[in-house]
Parts: sequence; structure tokens; C-alpha cells
Amino acid sequence: MPPVGQEHGDRLDMNERFDIPTAALIHYKEIDLEHQALVEILNSLTHAFGENDQLNGALFYEQAMQFLHAFEHHSANEEKEMADLAFPGLAIHRKHHANSIDKVQQIANEALQRPFVIKSSFFELFDRLIDELLRDDILFREFLDGRGL
Ligand SMILES: [Fe+2]
Ligand SMILES: [Fe+2]
Repeated sequence: MPPVGQEHGDRLDMNERFDIPTAALIHYKEIDLEHQALVEILNSLTHAFGENDQLNGALFYEQAMQFLHAFEHHSANEEKEMADLAFPGLAIHRKHHANSIDKVQQIANEALQRPFVIKSSFFELFDRLIDELLRDDILFREFLDGRGL
């Protein structure tokens, strides 16, 4: 797993693809599949940028909203799994999900106001995903380990 503070650009390979590090796999029910779906949306968004690293604001908005819907769906499912197992970190985790959802909505709304967005806006989305996969969900994995699940 790359260090959490690593620059986003370093997390993309030569084809500008991000793959979930093995250490960030949760191995529980649908969680990894949903994470992979989120990653694929961001990978395709990366490729939508032109050579000048710009993308039409409305197109960016559309894909950011697609990410948002997938993220909301995933957050709800993940929180349900956490609640079913009485995961003690659920309250704070729920707050992190809500903060990420607000932030993604804000990024999408800002994009819609502009003729084009630059790639740094994409990296803000990317950072939300990294928070989700590498910082927050790892605690759930540790909890699952403790329960032998
Ligand atoms: Fe997750
Ligand atoms: Fe999460």
C-alpha cells in the first residue's frame, strides 16, 4: 500500500490507472466489488481529460455525479454491514461518508458553473476515494480480523 500522504499522481500507473492496493482489500461481502466500481469510474474520468488536462464542465459534472451515486449506494451498504456487526467505529465512519458525499457534490456543482475544469478537480475526487479505501475502511478490516471474519 502506498503511504497515505503520497501525491495522487504517484498513485496512477503509466496508463493513468489506479488499482486498489492488495492491503486495502476488505474481503467482506460486496465491499471490494463496490470499491472497484468506484475506482473504474475515476479511471474512466481520468481518460476523459484532453491533452491539455481540461474537461468540459458539464461532462465532468455528469461523471462526478455517477461517482457520487455509486459512492452513496456503497456507503449505505457498508454502513449496514457495519451496523449488523456492531462495529464500534460506525458513527465516525458514517460521518466520513457524509463528508465525502458533501464534498463530491460541491466539486460537481462547481464544475457545472465552468466551461471546463482542470485535472486538479479530478484529483479532489480521487482524494475522497483514497480516504475511503486507505484510511477509513482499513479500520473495518482490522475489526473484521479481530472477529475472525
Ligand atoms: Fe468502502
Ligand atoms: Fe467506508
